[in-house]
Amino acid sequence: MNAVLAMPKQSVKDSLTVRDKFAAVRKELGDSLIERTEEIDLLLTSLIAGEHLLLVGPPGCGKSLLIDSLMRWTHGSKFSCLLNRFSMPEELLGMYSLSELKLDKFVRITTNKLPESQYVFLDEIFRASPAILNVLLKLLHEKVFDKGDGIARRVPLEICLGAANDWPSGDEAKSLGALVDRFMLRKSVLPISSAAGRQKLLWNNQPPEFSTSLSGHELIAARLDAQGLVWSKEAKQALESILDELARQGVKPSDRRQFKSVSIVQAYAWLNGAEEVQPEHLEILTHVLWVDHEEASKVRSVIMQIAAPVGMKVSGLIGETEQILSSVNTKDLGATATAASKLAEIQKSLKAMKEHPKALAAIAYVKEKITELRLKSLDSI
Ligand SMILES: Nc1ncnc2c1ncn2[C@@H]1O[C@H](COP(=O)(O)OP(=O)(O)OP(=O)(O)O)[C@@H](O)[C@H]1O
Ligand SMILES: [Mg+2]
Repeated sequence: MNAVLAMPKQSVKDSLTVRDKFAAVRKELGDSLIERTEEIDLLLTSLIAGEHLLLVGPPGCGKSLLIDSLMRWTHGSKFSCLLNRFSMPEELLGMYSLSELKLDKFVRITTNKLPESQYVFLDEIFRASPAILNVLLKLLHEKVFDKGDGIARRVPLEICLGAANDWPSGDEAKSLGALVDRFMLRKSVLPISSAAGRQKLLWNNQPPEFSTSLSGHELIAARLDAQGLVWSKEAKQALESILDELARQGVKPSDRRQFKSVSIVQAYAWLNGAEEVQPEHLEILTHVLWVDHEEASKVRSVIMQIAAPVGMKVSGLIGETEQILSSVNTKDLGATATAASKLAEIQKSLKAMKEHPKALAAIAYVKEKITELRLKSLDSI
């Protein structure tokens, strides 16, 4: 009998490496959340890199579901808060101690509040008042907090996950610019776009269930392991070319953003099971290197052209697949057969790129869709 199958359940779990655990949660989140592959990768990469993540998208597109799910997977102290214009600093930082007030001192009781939490979720973060903003800017960046006794203590914050419905614009963009910059990874989240995705949302939507969980020690192990990944010569050259090309096109990420890109790419490569950083892993920088969110698509195309042409082709072919699936009438046998043969062509093109991990996943996806299409046309007979 297979040795792993013969083990009792608990020891199979214990024998999983930290990387196996990340692979398991990545798959479990991907199986449950619809069209959120990129967001899941971003979330896990942020956690491994120890950098904050901001998700901006319309109401009900799964931001909280994704973030809450990650919080559930990790062990440690957590803090979540839905901000509004009237939120007081006390809600995040704790009340002032009455006994200290009697001594004319303003000292906060931070128990169970943001300054004592490892995993923080700030929803509607752009609604933070100036008083909250001031504290957040320092706490998120320097990871220190002075509760009022004049001592700036280190906070245990591992990651702050922010969410909002819209990117700030106009005057707000200026006042919130520094806050947006505290988030090394940022992404616009779009509603579900494919017909297949909508079908799953309506009729087969299950919240994610996890077969593993992540301890604090495992998180540290993951981070150390990721930081140990060596950059290949090609990946180094690709990063330098991307930064040069972006500067030529007028996109100038701060020195801090450029520097932090190195460990973010290592984290993404580690998540992908790599032993060395390769150019294709630079794809994650599409969410790091822009300054204004309107530059995001420009940054994406520069990165894709220089670092990940295969990844870009795969994404294009998946887009084509979605389009074919959303326009086919499965009650029309002729149209269904044509759609299936178009998908078979796409599958052939993907097979030519099968060395690429994204292409492998895409091949499996298209194969599944071809089978579904055939079954549906059989049903309609
Ligand atoms: N991509 C998705 N995959 C699976 N379920 C989804 C997805 N998007 C939305 N849902 C469903 O819609 C519910 C609402 O989503 P959620 O509360 O996470 O949205 P949100 O983006 O946080 O919205 P808001 O901006 O209003 O806070 C989820 O709990 C889930 O049931
Ligand atoms: Mg929400």
